[in-house]
Amino acid sequence: MPDFVAAVDQGTTSTRFMIFDHGGNEIARHQLEHEQILPKPGWVEHDPTEIWERTRSVIESTFTKTNLSVSDLAALGITNQRETTVVWNRRTGRPYCNAIVWQDTRTDRIAAELERSGKGDVIRRKAGLPPATYFSGGKLQWILENIEGVREDAENGEAIFGTTDTWLLWNLTGQHVTDPTNASRTMLMDLETLAWDDELLSFFNIPRQMLPEIKPSSGFFGTTRSDGPLHGELAVTGDLGDQQAATVGQVCFRPGEAKNTYGTGNFLLLNTGHELVRSKHGLLTTLCYQFGDDKPVYALEGSIAVTGSAVQWLRDQLGIISGAAQSETLASQVADNGGIYFVPAFSGLFAPYWRSDARGAIVGLTRATTNAHVARATLEAICYQSRDVVQAMENDSGVKLDVLRVDGGVTANQLCMQMQADILGVPVSKPVVAETTALGAAYAAGLAVGFWKSTAELEQNWNEDRRWQPSWSEEQRAAGYAGWQKAVGRTLDWVD
Ligand code: G3P
Repeated sequence: MPDFVAAVDQGTTSTRFMIFDHGGNEIARHQLEHEQILPKPGWVEHDPTEIWERTRSVIESTFTKTNLSVSDLAALGITNQRETTVVWNRRTGRPYCNAIVWQDTRTDRIAAELERSGKGDVIRRKAGLPPATYFSGGKLQWILENIEGVREDAENGEAIFGTTDTWLLWNLTGQHVTDPTNASRTMLMDLETLAWDDELLSFFNIPRQMLPEIKPSSGFFGTTRSDGPLHGELAVTGDLGDQQAATVGQVCFRPGEAKNTYGTGNFLLLNTGHELVRSKHGLLTTLCYQFGDDKPVYALEGSIAVTGSAVQWLRDQLGIISGAAQSETLASQVADNGGIYFVPAFSGLFAPYWRSDARGAIVGLTRATTNAHVARATLEAICYQSRDVVQAMENDSGVKLDVLRVDGGVTANQLCMQMQADILGVPVSKPVVAETTALGAAYAAGLAVGFWKSTAELEQNWNEDRRWQPSWSEEQRAAGYAGWQKAVGRTLDWVD
């Protein structure tokens, strides 16, 4: 058996290739960004061809840098930004248009109409999701209705759909496949049968033959083509949406275990075991993973659209910091938020509110407000939004969180992690290997080929790097949260 397992992590802003050893340690990585295409307010697109080019480059550069090759790898896993919708031609391999990204809100009318017609409740019951612009079904409907030739080609089996895992799997192996974690984000899959559902497909008028085959997250997806970027044949045996992959990378294999990933947005997932828990407090019911023939494992998810990207906004739009790390230095110049709150509802509010009519606001401004207060309020917003979600999760599950496992880029920000412990009132814990997303995909791939024998073996690989303890009093916590909730109220009903 070769010594390593690799994973491609196709994220919202970049694509990376990583190689891990048996202990789950990172051996090598390479990462490249791709363009964020913003044609109109609310629209967010990616060029699928650019994403494939970046994927090729990161794989080839990692091999060149390390002198490793495909023969050193036991398997390959794929993980990806979820929901982002690609349609391409089966014969030519060419996309019909740019991918519509999960953050894109152009389908708000489709979502509103589903709700108005009562179909929303069917989607909630079968797919575990509220009708929202976030998920793939509406995006695919939009492409079928608005891009010339797609409907006709879809009817005759030539135009096919996939999220970006499927797009990469198609290019790497020639197979048209996905896994149930990705399929569970489309509004088209029944969560109980893990199959595409005809009634749901009819809501969006989607021809069934466009859809990829759904296979277990850990299992055989295909073999890489030898003329591809790996320059050899390798079994692809793992595929998970990135947030589910991070849950696996954080070894949250037991019901009640949860992780929070701090990326462009924040995504908190709670493993609910084989039980399909239906949220009454604005969370999503989603697939956590399905390993081989084992029974599927479900999760409750709190998805927050804008967290790390609010820090990018300070850099790119306001220009008050020159890099993400500077948000910590700037926010540290003041002892508190000076009474201001920033609700970054740039694309409406996701969990637990699901309000597409919300837009961002900074409230409580006075003559004394400085850039430092704005930076501090931005970091607090990341933490308050996570508190909203934790609260919803506790209300749904009846279980009180005793520690929050965290990962993702923003966890490098010590001040933000301390704020998170203060705002939640529970310790925050970060593992040594913080690249849990790619690691989770590698774990799924490695389990399928016997590189790792069991999830118990993976649990041995998890080690704590850092823990932040809450330092605020209960009164301080309650007062801060009351201010946040008031601020959220100000952002609602902003657009029709
Ligand atoms: O649901 C969207 C999520 O999968 C995106 O994650 O890390 O690529 O921003 P990320």
